[in-house]
Amino acid sequence: MKRREVVRRITIGGITLVVIPSVLTSCVKEDTNPDPSPGTGTGTGNSTKIDLSLPSNQNLASKDGFIIVNNIIVINTGSDKFVALSSVCTHEGCAISYNPSAGNLPCPCHGSIFALTGGVLNGPALSSLKVYKVTKSGNILTIE
Ligand code: FES
Repeated sequence: MKRREVVRRITIGGITLVVIPSVLTSCVKEDTNPDPSPGTGTGTGNSTKIDLSLPSNQNLASKDGFIIVNNIIVINTGSDKFVALSSVCTHEGCAISYNPSAGNLPCPCHGSIFALTGGVLNGPALSSLKVYKVTKSGNILTIE
């Protein structure tokens, strides 16, 4: 084998080693940001209905329980009150979560933190989360 051939093969091997870690990094990022509490909702347009009697929505049965439906995070704040906000971080679009002990909404990607009112508590996000109106009738939450 000539020297040029050996160098070419090493270079190809080097590229392979560089590509594999970047692919693994992408997989890890997706795995560390799963939908933490998927719920079930129905609706079209600007209205989503959540049936609290469904097993998939049971996280909402107690204070600080939450689900994510249609890119909306719905949180039971206690005393039969609920809040609903966009679950899409305004920085780069990662799915936010809910931290009950701090009472805020952290984004796992770059550290932004949002208040339950949607406002930015900590960047890099600059814009607030969209807040939805929530009404309850029997076992049905309507989010608009
Ligand atoms: S995507 Fe949420 S902080 Fe960057």
